[in-house]
This record gives sequence, C-alpha cells and structure tokens, in this order.
Amino acid sequence: MVQIAPSILAADFANLGKEIQKITKAGADQVHIDVMDGLFVPNLTFGAVVVKDIRPYTMLPFDVHLMVKKPSVLIKDFVEAGADAITVHLEADEDIPMLISLIKKYGKRVGLSIRPHTKVSDLIPYLPDIDLVLMMSVEPGFGGQQFQPIALQKIAQLKEFIGRKKVQISVDGGINDQTAPACILAGADVLVAGSYVFKSKNYQKAIERLKEGVQK
Ligand code: DX5
Ligand code: ZN
Repeated sequence: MVQIAPSILAADFANLGKEIQKITKAGADQVHIDVMDGLFVPNLTFGAVVVKDIRPYTMLPFDVHLMVKKPSVLIKDFVEAGADAITVHLEADEDIPMLISLIKKYGKRVGLSIRPHTKVSDLIPYLPDIDLVLMMSVEPGFGGQQFQPIALQKIAQLKEFIGRKKVQISVDGGINDQTAPACILAGADVLVAGSYVFKSKNYQKAIERLKEGVQK
C-alpha cells in the first residue's frame, strides 16, 4: 500500500511538536522535512537544530529533502539530528557519487530528487546505489502549488528504469485527493503531502483518503 509522508512545511510552526504527534496518530508513515537554503530555491526554511528538537515527538522515519546548492556540508548535522533518509537534488552543485557515498557512510537511506523538467534518464547511472527517487511534481521551493501532470509520465518511465531494483518512488508537490490516485496508478510508493494534510480539519481522514486513492 502507498505510504503517506506529510510535509511539515505546511504545519503550524508555532506548534511543531504537537503537529508531528498529530500526524503520527493520524496514520502517517513518514515525516517529510523540507530544507531550503534560499539559493537552490528562492525560499528559506530551517536547519538541523529544528529537526533535533522535533525528533522526540515521533518514532516515524524522518525523510529530509535537501533543496540546497551544497548538501555535503549539511549532511552530518542532519544525520546527527535524527534523519533516517536524506534526499539531495540531482541538480545540486556537487558531485552526486560523492554525496551518495557520504549519506551511505552514515548508514542512512539515500534519495535523489529531480525537478519536474529534469530528464528521468539522468537518474539511470545512480539507480543501483540509491534507495529512493523523489519526483518533484511542482517546482521546488514552496508548498501549495498545483500538481504538474508531467510527473505522471515520469513516474511511469522511472518505474521501467528501476525494473527489479529496490528503489522507492516518492512524489512531491500538489498531492491531494484528486491527484493521488493517478500517482498511485503510475507507480508511486510514497506520496508527500503538505497542504492537503495540514490544512485539513481532520488529518486522519486526509491521510486515509490519500491512501485509498479515493476521488472526491
Ligand atoms: C516543495 C516541497 C514540498 C511541499 C509540498 O518544495 O518539496 O514537499 O512542501 O507541499 P504541497 O503538498 O502543499 O504541494
Ligand atoms: Zn519536499
């Protein structure tokens, strides 16, 4: 069954600990943590200190999505803060094999992410060495954007390239009850959802709806 990873970017930052507890109770499978440096994307979020402070609020895996130009200087801090998976962008300004081995050195799951218009085939050389691909279905940088359908054909294409390898496909951006079913059908294993979960009145219902792939 598809897993749901609520993105805390859409949470109430004044009550982050409580928000994490709420999504845990509501049936989330992972916590998606969006880190932005104001350079790779035109927005800033937070650093490892915040991740360390929210770590005691849940047992769920922390999936850290680094939207930064130079991830290498940050990886150790996020590992120590409690990350379970670290995802870097293929479009980052650093050597990808170096970043993959750095994350592996710490024994964490390795993710590679691509923007909506980056070629899926650019991921091929790295597929044997990574645990997940985070397919962006919006331009990274902001929550609450509209899903770009181009992501659907990319998920399907990626699925073919992955073949029998054990690489999970996550999709990130504009996920709601209208867009989730198509993502699941295309082959997504994990749905990252910020606004749809955190702006809903009932987190549990929102998560259930995404998991069931029910159109409403
Ligand atoms: C965008 C982030 C996403 C974002 C998703 O740069 O990577 O994780 O928070 O937000 P929604 O679900 O609101 O599109
Ligand atoms: Zn993200």
